[in-house]
Amino acid sequence: MTNPLLGDREAQSFLRDYWQKKPLLIRQALPGFEVPFSPEELAGLACESDVESRLILEKDGAHPWQVKHGPLSEEDFAHLPETHWTLLVQEINRHLPELALLLDRFRFVPHWRLDDLMVSYAPKHGSVGPHIDEYDVFLIQGAGKRRWQISHQPVGPEDLIPDLALRIMKEFKPEQDWVLEPGDMLYLPPRVAHYGVAQDNDCMTFSVGFRAPTRNQLWEHFIDYALEKQADVRYTDPDLSWQQHPGEIGAEAIAHVQALLESLRHDRQSLQAWFGRFVTEPRGPFSSGTELAPEKALTLTQFLKELQAQEGLWRSEAVRFAYIRENEETTTLFIDGQAYPLSGSIQFMAEWLTDQRHFHFEQIQPLLKITGFGEQLLNWYHAGYVYFPE
Ligand code: SIN
Ligand code: CO
Repeated sequence: MTNPLLGDREAQSFLRDYWQKKPLLIRQALPGFEVPFSPEELAGLACESDVESRLILEKDGAHPWQVKHGPLSEEDFAHLPETHWTLLVQEINRHLPELALLLDRFRFVPHWRLDDLMVSYAPKHGSVGPHIDEYDVFLIQGAGKRRWQISHQPVGPEDLIPDLALRIMKEFKPEQDWVLEPGDMLYLPPRVAHYGVAQDNDCMTFSVGFRAPTRNQLWEHFIDYALEKQADVRYTDPDLSWQQHPGEIGAEAIAHVQALLESLRHDRQSLQAWFGRFVTEPRGPFSSGTELAPEKALTLTQFLKELQAQEGLWRSEAVRFAYIRENEETTTLFIDGQAYPLSGSIQFMAEWLTDQRHFHFEQIQPLLKITGFGEQLLNWYHAGYVYFPE
């Protein structure tokens, strides 16, 4: 099926030809896209303690490219220059559920690869400077115009301006140049240098950001899990052969050590039990998995009444969800770094919960006759994993 977001390409052909390979500009990927908040509301959000924000002053700060981390204050906004600054707010999907729905359009990439939706606000000439990111990004123009220049030049640490909180390139040689208007979208694979400059006041750009762990990060987390969960095994050498020089560490010893180390990761069951937990761990200190947990517990009858009155519920954006199908009978659902096996009549609920962000009452109603469905939904409600917007 072709996807209008991808310029009427099929998701499969986008993944085959562009994903992690080359940039793609899609004019009017989101025709009629409107930013559902005002610049003042965004500034207000950046002043809250559970919101990750940064204010970047290219000029007129204590030094060029000064970065002030949130929570920001009214005072910070009172003395801003007319031009050349940017406000960045992370996880806007967590703060405004209707923007979370935007992420549903990117379902052709697995959820666990997704990081968050960030928004930037800038007056004329506002920019975060020419830079590379380590991750894939879709840059959606929300309001105003932004000029994007990109370059495939290789960028190493020596190519960055030293001693800055931002990674900004000393020299940027643009190869392609576009002005994006509201609804236009630019996809960039990791490490493609880019430089976006606001062309007018009230320029807002949304970044759908992805994440990809490094090998060291994987090992660091995996080892903690394996050390705790896997039974220990000792080095053995019943095949020890006589060697003339006892000081030598022989090739067989090294082979044994290698095999012993590798046996740690050969157990696929524990590898997937760990990986599901790892990728659903909380994003950072700003969100808490329980932030939407209700103060008052409900009985199933009260919950179903509320479900009908509220016409449905939402899945929390403060928590990451993923699942692994273990076998025909059992699926492990991972939520917020924890594993929950689902089997029998409610096994399908892992797929059901992770396939969408908003659940209409009409869609839930026929499922309520399934044994255990209502109770499971109520458990998730009590945990804060699904919630009523009020
Ligand atoms: C911006 O929106 O100004 C910056 C986004 C990015 O370069 O990744
Ligand atoms: Co960037």
